[in-house]
Amino acid sequence: MRHFETDLAKSKTPIGQSIKHDSAMAQVTGRAQYVDDTGTPANCLYAYPVLSTIACGQVVSVDASDALATAGVVTVLNSDDIPGKKDIGPVFPGDVLLVEKEVSFHGQPILLVVAESYELARKAARVVHVEYEQSEPLMDINKAIADQDWVRPPLTFGHGDVEVALKDAPHRLQSDLVVGGQEHFYLEGQVALTVPTDDGGIFVKSSTQHPSEVQHLVAEVLNKPFKDVTVEMRRMGGGFGGKETHAAPWAVLAALATYHTGKPVKLRLARADDFRATGKRHPFYNTYDIAFDDNGIIKAADITVNGNCGYTPDLSDGIVDRAMFHVDNSYFYENVRVMGTRCRTNQVSHTAFRGFGGPQGMIMAEAIMDDVARYLGKDPLDVRLANLYKPGRDFTPYQQTVDQFIIEDMINDLVEQADYRNRRKTINRFNAGSPIIKRGLSVTPVKFGISFTVQHLNQAGALVNVYSDGSIMLNHGGTEMGQGLNIKVAQVVAHVFGVDVDRVGITATRTDKVPNTSATAASSGTDLNGMAALNAANTIKERLVNFIAEHFNVSAAEIEFADNQVFYPGGTLDFEALANLAYVNMISLSSTGFYSTPKIHFDREAGSGRPFFYFAYGVSVTEVEIDILTGENCVKQVDILHDVGHSLNPAIDIGQIEGAFVQGMGWLTTEDLQWHDNGMLASAGPATYKIPAIGDMPAQLNVHLYDSKNPENTVFRSKAVGEPPFMLANSVWCAMRDAIASLTDGKYSPVLHPPATPEKILRAVMDAKAWQSEREVSDVK
Ligand code: MTE
Ligand code: HPA
Ligand code: MOS
Repeated sequence: MRHFETDLAKSKTPIGQSIKHDSAMAQVTGRAQYVDDTGTPANCLYAYPVLSTIACGQVVSVDASDALATAGVVTVLNSDDIPGKKDIGPVFPGDVLLVEKEVSFHGQPILLVVAESYELARKAARVVHVEYEQSEPLMDINKAIADQDWVRPPLTFGHGDVEVALKDAPHRLQSDLVVGGQEHFYLEGQVALTVPTDDGGIFVKSSTQHPSEVQHLVAEVLNKPFKDVTVEMRRMGGGFGGKETHAAPWAVLAALATYHTGKPVKLRLARADDFRATGKRHPFYNTYDIAFDDNGIIKAADITVNGNCGYTPDLSDGIVDRAMFHVDNSYFYENVRVMGTRCRTNQVSHTAFRGFGGPQGMIMAEAIMDDVARYLGKDPLDVRLANLYKPGRDFTPYQQTVDQFIIEDMINDLVEQADYRNRRKTINRFNAGSPIIKRGLSVTPVKFGISFTVQHLNQAGALVNVYSDGSIMLNHGGTEMGQGLNIKVAQVVAHVFGVDVDRVGITATRTDKVPNTSATAASSGTDLNGMAALNAANTIKERLVNFIAEHFNVSAAEIEFADNQVFYPGGTLDFEALANLAYVNMISLSSTGFYSTPKIHFDREAGSGRPFFYFAYGVSVTEVEIDILTGENCVKQVDILHDVGHSLNPAIDIGQIEGAFVQGMGWLTTEDLQWHDNGMLASAGPATYKIPAIGDMPAQLNVHLYDSKNPENTVFRSKAVGEPPFMLANSVWCAMRDAIASLTDGKYSPVLHPPATPEKILRAVMDAKAWQSEREVSDVK
């Protein structure tokens, strides 16, 4: 008999293997199907929204006669045509499906044109005449703050006596930061296809991170029970948070058109309309008031983050909460008060985007560390090290205890690997001898909380079927948007049955297979669905083990699954033979699985609790170069050490880290959302909105995984990876400021509101030069 705990058996487990993404070949060869590629039903109609051309005011009249007179236009629907709920706000009300009278942002859907072709629908939408009575739009977050114009009430939490500590500490600084938003720029835009079923239901294909919410909203808007609506989602061409709540309106509108015409309907937004009609990362306006000692240790911090939410709450309560939860990043603030406000403006309702407010909060911690270091004339790395959470200084502003102290080791490791100290000296020498090109260097850590901060969302379900030929079907509540969720969960299931991953079939996410799911978000897709699938697979395996034990009269403890076989005392069966034998003996080979995250709770009123199951950590060292005559810049070298616990799939994880870093870099450097005074988004396409291109990639990007295991009991002790590395890009912004500060011997802290575009860098350079010459003049005096 074969013995099991051999190295061979262990090395064969798919857990920890760099198995390629299940769709990789299909995607690079163009065979992978997205909603718009799937066969369109023969009698399919096309819907297109009429979007408002003002940001604030009233609709006075609508004239759709030209559109309706166009051959091929079937109907034009308005708010009165909605049979059920007219408000599709995901958490709080406010998001109307179609404008009744009041327009709240430029690009808001007012009517829906339905026609026989996509082109016709779009053209007809443009000849619907809407007359408005315009009001002055509120576009300035500072005005919203001054007027206390909130979409949700403010929240404050913290500990200690901030007022006293601010006055008593030897040094005090105050500053502010205008933080830019970000367009998701998923390559596949918003799209949905709805098909009537023969029993009065609707089948929906939607590019969504949240199939259950699409199901619920379609049903509520059409006055149907949830069971009459099924949503399917095979894969997205990127979501990045932009399809958590903002995929639903388009599916619901298509379903409304199906409801009225009885025909299949497709709705796909053109890119410029996708830019204008869907929410972005929240722009923020943040302030700090801090006090510190001679070593740069923070004694008091009073930090306010103000999120520009647009016209409704959408997910802004959670997003601003998460910004508040991350203003400490990896640093202990002895006395601290954190306030967060949710400001209303006449912009599209801003929404989830990788990091979910975390980046907009965390950048404050890094601004603070750099500002303190420059004020005291220290290396920013030393100020960061001095302020890290450590035993005894180990509780956050929201009273969660920090109990894993790996960040200091990670920083020290990477500082050595990337040779930070020597490069700092080399760069100082380079800058002294280089009048126009200046270099900058920075190390920044990341500590990111993992879990939905709304506790009940931390649950998932899965369905696993073993067929009688030994092949396996996997379904779970998560959605694939490129992040590699499906392959990771397949690896988990393959491991349980001791079979190769390619035995596990990956299927579309469907609301009729796994119900009541949460959005695939908060980086928790694998943590939640991986555990649910593990539970489902283990249930089937247990039945198989019991069956074998009884059937062959052997001890259950000695039965092992490996190498596509099952081994029991005195015999071996191929997995397919076992599946068939179990089937013939009437053993159920199908199971659901369920998981909910333990240990988490948060009392929002008290501002205290444990919102996060654990923290994911990372560190990055970035070197940049700027041209002080033009503001042009480049990222020369990036070294990253990131903690994914025990990696389920290192190749996928490293891909996530690289992608997140570059996306974060785009947010902090080139991606510049600009609105006209009338509220129209000016940067509504790739000509004016610059995501990182291949030429913007760091010349060197070295990513290493930190060797560790999650101390919490997650799926094979792995950690979530989707969002945390986004914030590693903070080191790019800090390095840009470092390069500018070199004009002042590192004494002046440049004002550089992100995104740090060449224009802003140039302005900061001029400010730094002015500061320096003033200092020289006063030195002479
Ligand atoms: N990676 C790719 N390729 N495409 C995406 O849309 N979304 C990110 C991240 N990585 C995204 C991605 C965001 S915002 C989240 S929350 C997580 O993936 C969601 O997936 P996960 O929970 O399975 O990590
Ligand atoms: N992260 C991402 N999406 C969410 C969250 C969160 O914490 N809460 C609700 N949706
Ligand atoms: Mo990600 S912003 O949680 O979809």
